[in-house]
Amino acid sequence: MTMKIDVKAAKADVLKFKADCLAFGVYSDVKNSDILESLDKKLEGAISRLKKLGDFKAKAGSSIFLYTHGKIAAERILLIGFGEKKTATMDTFRKTASKAAYEAINVGAKTLAICLHYDEQDSNFEKLGKVIAEAVHFGAYRYDEFLTSTENGGSKSLSVTVINDSQKNIVKLAAGIKIGQVIAKAQNYARTLCNRPANVLYPAQFAAEAKKIAASVQGLRCTVIDEKQMAQKNMGGILSVGKGSINKPRMIIIKYTPKGKAKNSEPIALVGKAITFDSGGISIKPSGDMHEMKYDMTGGAAVLMTMQIIAALKLPLNVYGIICAAENRPDGGSFLPGDIITTFSGKTIEVLNTDAEGRLVLSDGLEQARQLKCKTAIDIATLTGACVVALGKHKAGLFSNDEKLTEKLKAAAADSSEPVWQLPYEQLYADEIKGKIADLKNIGGRWGGACIGAAFVGEFAKDMAWAHLDIAGPMDASDPMKSYTQAGSIGFGVRLLTSYLMNY
Ligand code: BES
Ligand code: ZN
Ligand code: ZN
Repeated sequence: MTMKIDVKAAKADVLKFKADCLAFGVYSDVKNSDILESLDKKLEGAISRLKKLGDFKAKAGSSIFLYTHGKIAAERILLIGFGEKKTATMDTFRKTASKAAYEAINVGAKTLAICLHYDEQDSNFEKLGKVIAEAVHFGAYRYDEFLTSTENGGSKSLSVTVINDSQKNIVKLAAGIKIGQVIAKAQNYARTLCNRPANVLYPAQFAAEAKKIAASVQGLRCTVIDEKQMAQKNMGGILSVGKGSINKPRMIIIKYTPKGKAKNSEPIALVGKAITFDSGGISIKPSGDMHEMKYDMTGGAAVLMTMQIIAALKLPLNVYGIICAAENRPDGGSFLPGDIITTFSGKTIEVLNTDAEGRLVLSDGLEQARQLKCKTAIDIATLTGACVVALGKHKAGLFSNDEKLTEKLKAAAADSSEPVWQLPYEQLYADEIKGKIADLKNIGGRWGGACIGAAFVGEFAKDMAWAHLDIAGPMDASDPMKSYTQAGSIGFGVRLLTSYLMNY
């Protein structure tokens, strides 16, 4: 049932290219390109008429279908607005390509040709190919594994050709597309893992998926620590959170070793929060949007799929992926508010709210990274509702104890179009979580919840260069995004972490 998507580049004449849909990007303030002019002529002025009538103003994100009635080889034309030329960036092309694929699937198109008339001289066609491939998969993605009827329409496969009239550009586009497709397929699988409900994807199942992913490429080794081994190792953080569920927790450790010499001798750790369902536990959440807490494993999914990408792309780096998988549920066996737990690091924590569980599992994950002798650790977690209040659903919060790492992550965010915004990591916040009857308490005062959460997690980074990504906001698609990709998980973090490692 899962959608088959494929992207390639080809030298072609847009008027002669046979496709169910031919997608064009159009600037709002620039006169038509030669290609668009010739297309308009072939269609007896249909495009200029649309513009004149004001039906299509080429505003960023707007789009309109045109039917070609056999005047050119393609069945339909999809015009997509770039907006004003001076405001267009790589991200404009990304959104346009996503929109093209999203709309093409909606009308049941099986073949799509994309023609973005960017400036030929100063364009980085390899980067463009990568971005278009990522974007097409992003827009074409549908979560359909539990749909038994095909009534909703839409196609089950999409073959995309990026067309250009220069062979030199095609070679570069193709090189970028090759990399982009690896990243995009992995990101879409992260979305599928996140979209799977908690009765399907529980910790042991997540571990089985990790084993499967690790076996799918060379260079990955996956070890799974079950609840009995956790008890032997005194991993009190993750164990406590998982206690209240019949679905017991798992810590998943994936090691990537490159074939040749690595750029880094001390490994980098990616640590993901993977709460397969967060009911809040005994400090139970209101029921309204509780179902969304199946996405509380987004950080873990991002880590898993990034590991697959770096192995597939054969990056010369030593990297560990550490995924803390647990289900937070109220039950006779649950951990309780007031419980004092001893974490893997030896630090004790007074649990004042069982819904602040992400930081507890991460405490053990970061200690695992430290024991594996990692020098750098990045944790990624849907950690706080407060971060969503602070930044909305557009950006992830970035906290760090290291300036260089901060800059690299900001650059990766710009490169991947998975935005982050730096928030403070300071002692002031850590003071709020100092315990009286245990070393730490798992909640602070009323304000600045995202910063307090980060301060808590930072206590376990010790001497590692560490960054924390709070991805609670962008864990699923928000409104403007829904016009070019399906609602639900967007697999946030896969491109961000991949960019960071590719540019290491
Ligand atoms: N998983 C939630 C955070 C969350 C909220 C993610 C909304 C995505 C959307 C986390 O475990 C949580 O419940 N945090 C609490 C912390 C509080 C008890 C200090 C929160 O944000 O309310
Ligand atoms: Zn919670
Ligand atoms: Zn949570």
